[in-house]
Amino acid sequence: MGDLKILICVLIFSIKTVHSTKSKPHIVIIIADDLGWNDVGFHGSNQIPTPNMDALAYNGVILNRFYTLPQCTPSRAALLTGQYPMRYGYQGIPILAGENRFLPFQIPTLAKKLKELGYDTHLIGKWHLGQGYRNATPGAHGFDNHFGYWNGFMGYFNHEATGGNMVGLDMHHNDEPVWDTRGQYATDLITEKSEEVIKGHNESKPLFLIVSHLAVHTGKGGVDLEVKDIAENNKKFGYIQDERRRMYAGMTDELDKSVGDTIKALAEKRILDNTIIVFFSDNGAPTIGSALLDNTGSNWPLRGQKFTVFDGGVRTVAMIYSEQLQNKGTINNELIHITDLMPTLYYAAGGDVASLGKIDGINQWLTITKSEKSQRSEALINIDEARNVSALLTDGGRYKLINGSTVFSEVDGDFYGETGRDDSNPEYNTDDILHSSVNILLRGNLTQEKILNLRKQMELKSCRKSTIDHDSCRYNSVCLFDLFEDPCETTNIANKFPEVTERMKSKLEKYWSEVKVQRKGFLDPNANPVYYNNTWYPWLEDTRCHVGDLRTILLS
Ligand SMILES: *[C@@H]1O[C@H](CO)[C@@H](O)[C@H](O)[C@H]1NC(C)=O
Ligand SMILES: *[C@@H]1O[C@H](CO)[C@@H](O)[C@H](O)[C@H]1NC(C)=O
Ligand SMILES: *[C@@H]1O[C@H](CO)[C@@H](O)[C@H](O)[C@H]1NC(C)=O
Ligand SMILES: *[C@@H]1O[C@H](CO)[C@@H](O)[C@H](O)[C@H]1NC(C)=O
Ligand SMILES: *[C@@H]1O[C@H](CO)[C@@H](O)[C@H](O)[C@H]1NC(C)=O
Repeated sequence: MGDLKILICVLIFSIKTVHSTKSKPHIVIIIADDLGWNDVGFHGSNQIPTPNMDALAYNGVILNRFYTLPQCTPSRAALLTGQYPMRYGYQGIPILAGENRFLPFQIPTLAKKLKELGYDTHLIGKWHLGQGYRNATPGAHGFDNHFGYWNGFMGYFNHEATGGNMVGLDMHHNDEPVWDTRGQYATDLITEKSEEVIKGHNESKPLFLIVSHLAVHTGKGGVDLEVKDIAENNKKFGYIQDERRRMYAGMTDELDKSVGDTIKALAEKRILDNTIIVFFSDNGAPTIGSALLDNTGSNWPLRGQKFTVFDGGVRTVAMIYSEQLQNKGTINNELIHITDLMPTLYYAAGGDVASLGKIDGINQWLTITKSEKSQRSEALINIDEARNVSALLTDGGRYKLINGSTVFSEVDGDFYGETGRDDSNPEYNTDDILHSSVNILLRGNLTQEKILNLRKQMELKSCRKSTIDHDSCRYNSVCLFDLFEDPCETTNIANKFPEVTERMKSKLEKYWSEVKVQRKGFLDPNANPVYYNNTWYPWLEDTRCHVGDLRTILLS
């Protein structure tokens, strides 16, 4: 009897210790900016080798139907809040440098919620949710540490962001300008600062790190594509005819190296085994249109591009890796929306999802780690009431209803960009993937056969039809697509399936009734960096700018 008592005590004690010492996972989210669907090797293009990203994808779980918003600010808002941006008026055009809009700081963010669970929270790189006040910068939204830039883009070397005719340094450590890293290539700098965070992390706490890249957005002036060594780059990617596309290839190559280096830092810190790594692009690539800051990226064979609600704008490159995955090396075809990352990661961190309140995101942890069916049957792609653009997915992502497709009429819904499949490109090199630092560090058991098999499964074969039935789905018209049959949105079937169309229209109308109208921002001349030693600064803090009045307007 005595023995039994002791045994029970030991059992209870050990259960307790196991539970209490089970450490929370570290979480690292790597965000690519404006990376096209077709600009990673694992989606079938041979043009730009991305061995590290490919290795991460093939070793982990590929999120093959991962939907974002069609442009930067809304996507980043959705990631951090778990809510559709139209709930709080951030569904439209991205915030310009010097524009007096920002994410209301009262909204709970993933960073704030993880901080409550004891995480150290870091953002390295791009913010793009406003900077008018200190209460708008990352520190007010739950990040203990931010090193990077506040606006949508900056020069890769000069670190200057442009808004209208205003230009200034936008490299900041928290709210302080940083001059001494000027001249350093942005992708390298973001990588280096991320490595420093990982190296210096005190493991008594779990780590939350967002590595938010400038790559592969346009750089200086929103126009230039920038690489470290043009001659070297031209040699390496000489088989690409288009000069800008060659630069884009070099920028993507640097991004790929960065993914390798970031994972290496986790391995050297010996926390890789307990880290969840999420990688995605915030929206599709803007292939053409200088007003749209085109970068020559390719979303082929998906239709459309950034700023459109066609899949080329919103179905993006995405994958996840964790030792907790019970289905490594698989493709997840379930409908997953960017708002799902907040509840999913919060759950993985041991949080109670109910405490997040009413959000649009759905916890997808079991879908991702155990291939269970997604609890999400529909997703609002977006409603931009100012530009008459809206779109909805239903039936697990099968049907998509579009009611006005693009915010810029010059790009509607064509196929844009290079296919990367013709003979001018090198062959797909599986050895490079097998020998990549990511593949070595993850110690998976990839083989050439497995790689080619997975890659083949992701081919969008039914998309080889070369023509789009254009007339039936133009700017400001309603159209319906069956994405399972027609993932490249070639054929409007609204007339063929009137019941589906009507059902979806009424659902979309319901969302329209819930829209919070966007506040009209304006480029504030008071923001001009000339007033702040040529740096961007939270100018609305300045008494010159009548803080009191503006604060009331801005937060209403
Ligand atoms: C890590 O944090 C703990 C708790 O705050 C502290 O006791 C310890 O000294 C820290 N370790 C290092 C290496 O800073
Ligand atoms: C949006 O649609 C409304 C009515 O449908 C129209 O009056 C308005 O001009 C449209 N706005 C844009 C930006 O197309
Ligand atoms: C190795 O591959 C096999 C078959 O593809 C798979 O069942 C197994 O789980 C893999 N092991 C690891 C550690 O990934
Ligand atoms: C379609 O868009 C128009 C604005 O252009 C809007 O007034 C209408 O409610 C929308 N209808 C649906 C079904 O979404
Ligand atoms: C002002 O800008 C220059 C670079 O143009 C920099 O070297 C200097 O440190 C800045 N001054 C202050 C007070 O930040």
